[in-house]
Amino acid sequence: LAFAMNTPENFLQCLSLHSENATSISKLVYTPINSSYSSVLDITIQNLRFLTPSAPKPLLIVTPLHVSHIQAAIICSRQYGVQMRIRSGGHDYEGLSYLSKVPFVIVDLVNLRSIAVDVEDETAWVQSGATVGELYYRIAEKSKTLGFPAGVCPTVGVGGHFSGGGYGTMLRKYGLAIDNVIDAQLVDAQGRLLDRESMGEDLFWAIRGGGGGSFGVVVSWKVKLVPVPSTVTVFTLRRTLEQHATKLVHQWQLIGNELPNDLFMRVILQSYNSGPNGTRTMQASFNTLYLGGVNALLEVTRSSFPDLNVTRQDCTEMSWIESIFYFAGFPSGEPLEVLLNRSSNTKLFFKHKSDYVKEPIPKSGLEGMWERFFEEDEGMAQMIWNHYGGKMAEISESALPFPHRAGVLYKIQHITAWTDGGNEVASKHVSWIRSFFSYMARYVSKSPREAYINYRDLDIGTNNVKGDTDYKRASAWGKKYFKNNFDRLVRVKTTVDPSNFFQHEQSIPPFSF
Ligand code: FDA
Repeated sequence: LAFAMNTPENFLQCLSLHSENATSISKLVYTPINSSYSSVLDITIQNLRFLTPSAPKPLLIVTPLHVSHIQAAIICSRQYGVQMRIRSGGHDYEGLSYLSKVPFVIVDLVNLRSIAVDVEDETAWVQSGATVGELYYRIAEKSKTLGFPAGVCPTVGVGGHFSGGGYGTMLRKYGLAIDNVIDAQLVDAQGRLLDRESMGEDLFWAIRGGGGGSFGVVVSWKVKLVPVPSTVTVFTLRRTLEQHATKLVHQWQLIGNELPNDLFMRVILQSYNSGPNGTRTMQASFNTLYLGGVNALLEVTRSSFPDLNVTRQDCTEMSWIESIFYFAGFPSGEPLEVLLNRSSNTKLFFKHKSDYVKEPIPKSGLEGMWERFFEEDEGMAQMIWNHYGGKMAEISESALPFPHRAGVLYKIQHITAWTDGGNEVASKHVSWIRSFFSYMARYVSKSPREAYINYRDLDIGTNNVKGDTDYKRASAWGKKYFKNNFDRLVRVKTTVDPSNFFQHEQSIPPFSF
């Protein structure tokens, strides 16, 4: 049965037939003739490159309120032979949660976002449609000494974020979000609702880091909350090239992994226009969270990184939830409730890439980077370096699909972003970042050149748009994201979704015989 574009009513009837609450489902479905269709589609699109009239649009969007609506959407998509895209927060860098080259529907989990925090048990159940900002807010509402180690940006959706790992300012102390997930509810390709026990340990392993959109629709996650001190300390120190940024960044590489686990110090390298004549300034910002008070922090920085010259005036003590604000860039004094905003105000056009570094980059290499930053003169060129070590190095490479553990000094996120312009402008920036990425090849992990699945990058390889993708083709990108865990992911996929119902440009393929 082919899905006729002009008869979404048939699909709707199918949904009603298979939903427990038939009357409500029609109110949860948006077709192109519905006046809210565009706003529902656009609201969580994060990358403006994909918010264009020419971008492929879904035949319809379903916004389930109950598990039975998800089950119905799976059954009907199968029946009509259309692809399904699952969207939680819409932050996918390549827009895979709301774009497809073949006819498709979107299951948007925006209405499934309840969060139940159990302070006594130090756990929470969080539905995939919640954002991490909502999760942090609900935890802080109930406790000043519990937190959760997930993403820095509050609008990131729990569904996609946890599916790919999820790191934030506490990764050196507590690892990734998925290292703290203890149960989950998932609807599989047959439409069955499964939990950890009924899905079994293989599938439960795969959904914690194997990437979204491959194994089923994860409805909710049970997480273990982690202790946070009532006082934490933050600072951001900015140093330009004239203020010895290169030397400091070079030193940071050598000491980063040895710092105490309570200390998270990421470096943001960027170039920006600083004068009326287009003068470019290169700057490194040392953006830091310490899980403790200022005195202890100063002792650490004085003994391990004296050249950074951190002073008491640079530091601010605050609560953990206030540090979430700080890292999200909200002005102090804003109410905590801004964490509940699901859509960010600062949407940009962007192309990002990622790398893992295992050997310090020599000073000459850093100088070469700065030179190339000068070439990206009309956009924002940025790199974010996150050091690993600590808890990240204690977890084995195969414990979960996310393989970048011991031996990684730090992860790089390469960024170019711009505020307007059409395809020509976009291709200029995209070419710049691709050439920058080739320059970096000599300094980063090799065979495979590792990449972070949550920083989705279709340049590293894709599945076939139609038909099966063989193991060899998929390994090109799969080994970069998952190293040898890719093989186990393919085995799990072959068992749980042999007909490859859940698929996209970088979904795990089943073995095809
Ligand atoms: P989205 O809804 O786009 O989904 C992403 C992928 O997961 C898609 O393939 C989708 O189909 C699938 N999926 C979504 N929900 C699913 C579900 N319930 N079940 C199964 N599959 C599902 N990362 C990080 O680790 N730390 C950080 O600090 C940040 N910060 C950050 C800031 C900004 C502004 C952006 C745009 C992105 C980040 N990220 C990040 C990256 C982020 O973790 C990544 O994009 C996540 O996949 C986003 O999850 P969403 O649910 O928002 O995306």
